[in-house]
Amino acid sequence: MSQISGFSKFSKDQKIEWLVENFLDSRPQAAKTLRQYWNRDEKLQKLHDEFAENTVSNYYLPFGVAPNFIINDKEFAIPMAIEESSVVAAASKAAKFWGTRGGFKAEVLGMTKVGQVHFNFSGSPEKLKRFFEEKKTVLLNSCADLSKKMKQRGGGILDMELRDKTDELPNYFQLHLTFNTADAMGANFINSCLEQIGSTFEKEAAGYSGFNETERNVEIILCILSNYVPECLVRAKVECPVDELQSTPEISRAYAEKFVRAIHIANVEPYRAVTHNKGIMNGIDSVVLATGNDFRAVEAAAHAYASRDGKYQSLSKAEVKNGHFYFWMDIPLSLGTVGGLTSLHPLVKLALDLLQRPSAEELMKITAVAGLAQNFGAVGSLVTTGIQKGHMKMHLMNILNQYNATEKERKLVIEYFKENVVSHQAVVTKLENIRDGKY
Ligand code: MEV
Repeated sequence: MSQISGFSKFSKDQKIEWLVENFLDSRPQAAKTLRQYWNRDEKLQKLHDEFAENTVSNYYLPFGVAPNFIINDKEFAIPMAIEESSVVAAASKAAKFWGTRGGFKAEVLGMTKVGQVHFNFSGSPEKLKRFFEEKKTVLLNSCADLSKKMKQRGGGILDMELRDKTDELPNYFQLHLTFNTADAMGANFINSCLEQIGSTFEKEAAGYSGFNETERNVEIILCILSNYVPECLVRAKVECPVDELQSTPEISRAYAEKFVRAIHIANVEPYRAVTHNKGIMNGIDSVVLATGNDFRAVEAAAHAYASRDGKYQSLSKAEVKNGHFYFWMDIPLSLGTVGGLTSLHPLVKLALDLLQRPSAEELMKITAVAGLAQNFGAVGSLVTTGIQKGHMKMHLMNILNQYNATEKERKLVIEYFKENVVSHQAVVTKLENIRDGKY
């Protein structure tokens, strides 16, 4: 098959036609499925079509809500966009649990973001340093127009350093910049500033009398923000007397001991830590998605942070001290509540309304709490009943949908599994029995 040219210029119908003809065995049902997800409201559909390129349909995710969260003494119903069963249920359960034990506390530890200009320089590092010191103001001032609005909102460029990386790679230097981007995630602002500084740097170097011919030839390799934001950090925590964790002091103490042990295991064993942190990200990503933020950036930062000491570890920590149970987590979260999708996507706007129009700092706290709640629910289940009991109960609905169970079949199956262990095979067998008239 020859390559297609001008695909992006095709209308949506033409794109679908081409896909169905070339990759979907000309099945009319395939086109129908894609169209089934179009929104009838043409304006709304156009809005979604224009978020990205070559769109042919919409991809739905369930938009759920976890109520009863108390964060710093304020009540929240947290929006979560996620396809995995049990996640919203676990968050809601943890919210209720901690709601009667003082709620969650959260604080922002830093809001600093990073961007870098990576460049090649062949010559004297001392001369480069002198050049940098002399031109630092010129470089920063070249972003004055770009920074104007951001400054009014309390943000801007915080600092810029020259870093010599030649020990790791010959001729490699960088300008390492720090930013505060206020309520914006800030990727566009940071990248625009970096590109401006990169081009000013190149120009200034080309005309610098203190350099020789080779030194004047600074080569900018790339200018980009870093998604690693260890100083854009938020802490979420809970605590209560150990004896109040479960129905009796004895059960509570045994539970706390096992819970803390599970966290220690995730600290020393990377295979466990990855799954442990994945559970945290179930909560984090679903809030990040619901509020129109960049979950890939958040994921990348979180896992890099989990490895900051040279070994991949648990993001959350727990301890029992003086009869108290403490559970907490520090996590880097670069989030925005202005810009990007936040004022465009109607559901994102609604999610932010639901959260009472938070600032970026407030959203960081809410999101971190959702992650900690999720982790509390998962680890709590793992060290007691195991994860499958609750999980498979929720999964039951997916299996019933998969097998197009009727209302009557659903009722019978759900009733049956109130008393029996759910597994995929057991549900299918039960459904088949019902269909064969064996109740
Ligand atoms: C499943 O999505 C998440 C868990 O595996 C997390 C964990 O093991 O802690 C349950």
